[in-house]
Amino acid sequence: MLNIALFGPPGAGKGTQSTYLIEKYNLIYISTGDLLRKEIKDGSRLGKEAKAIIEQGGLVSDEIIVQILEKTITDNPNANGFLFDGFPRTTIQSFILEGLMIQLHTKLNCLISIEVPEELSVKRLLERGQTSGRTDDNETVIRNRLSEYTLKTLPVLNFFRERGNYFPVDGTKTIDEVRTCISQIVEKELSKNLMNIVMFGYPGSGRGSQGLAIAKKYGLEYVATGKMLDEEVKNGTEVGKRIEKIYNDGELIPDDIVVPLIEKKIEHSEGVRGFIFKGFPRTLVQSYILDGILKKHDSSISKIIDIQVDTLEIIRRLDKRSKTDKGMPYDSSTERIVKRLEEHRKKTIPVIEKYKSRHDVAVIDGEADFDTVFERICNAIDTGAKNLR
Ligand code: AP5
Ligand code: MG
Repeated sequence: MLNIALFGPPGAGKGTQSTYLIEKYNLIYISTGDLLRKEIKDGSRLGKEAKAIIEQGGLVSDEIIVQILEKTITDNPNANGFLFDGFPRTTIQSFILEGLMIQLHTKLNCLISIEVPEELSVKRLLERGQTSGRTDDNETVIRNRLSEYTLKTLPVLNFFRERGNYFPVDGTKTIDEVRTCISQIVEKELSKNLMNIVMFGYPGSGRGSQGLAIAKKYGLEYVATGKMLDEEVKNGTEVGKRIEKIYNDGELIPDDIVVPLIEKKIEHSEGVRGFIFKGFPRTLVQSYILDGILKKHDSSISKIIDIQVDTLEIIRRLDKRSKTDKGMPYDSSTERIVKRLEEHRKKTIPVIEKYKSRHDVAVIDGEADFDTVFERICNAIDTGAKNLR
């Protein structure tokens, strides 16, 4: 999910910038001001309570705000994210926002504060007042709204400054310039929110071909350690020669070879939506390493896919593959195949067990044709997608 709050004094341009953001990022728009004006228009109980306060430029009670917010949020359980305009406006409302985000198992990504001096606010709102039809767009009420802002709303910034998600923007610039600044903040935030998937399964379970297809569908960078190692062998590098020998012994490649290759791959992948890891992590140690590498990029594992196929079927598949031109050097004999399966059982199964206690692990039945298994994996990814973005 992507959740943004637009903050700023009356007339800063919160409503103006919202239009672009909700469209570009497909967000549900929550403007407490608009919601209140609708309640007033409908003549509801909440509307009646709020009317007099709004007309004087005061802030309506936090209780009323909670009630109108909850309705919109519970009506949109599958939202891609929310854009809050004019909320939170008090420190209490900041806590309310935090609570709402926790309920949705998500967080506020950024509070973008559009900053303009008081006189510019007044000037803009008086201009807007000529056509807006808003009863609060007249000078006396505008001044009241501004003093409420200074007194009760500005302190909210400290709350978010402490949490590290407060981003100021100069609101005196043109609408387009302000939009560009906001976009940059959001894009940077999104790049932190990578969708990182780890593919598990015994050798021969289909994790490689499925991983590639999943990468293509979701726009992820495919990180297959096997392929990376093979390239080193093919290029005859020093590392490649070491790898070749270890392959022939049927052992796992040591971490001091694998990790730098992965780091390089991630560092050179600017602008991707996320990564899909295949063949890594294979050991508990590597699982800690992966956490560390992702953390360095302010990210973490979003989903784990474990493709399960019966062992006899696996042996059958690997044996069959060894007789085609897709055969790998490491499945050229029964002994090697068995050794790889054994390595997987001894070292990788404990990794999956560890992840089960901390992450969303989707166990996929891999005994079906390619398209069926692919569909099963996509379903598993989409089910968790709400929390992935
Ligand atoms: P609300 O509707 O939220 O009003 P507000 O905060 O006073 O903000 P405005 O809508 O007036 O300004 P804006 O920042 O959206 O500016 P806009 O884009 O229109 O709240 C109204 C009332 O409801 C409150 O007073 C309160 O009583 C109550 N309320 C609401 N939420 C509450 C809450 N959470 N808790 C308690 N009470 C609550 O832009 C203004 C004008 O400037 C436009 O004409 C626009 O075209 C122009 N403009 C915008 N950007 C630029 C730019 N960069 N350059 C030149 N012109 C620009
Ligand atoms: Mg507005």
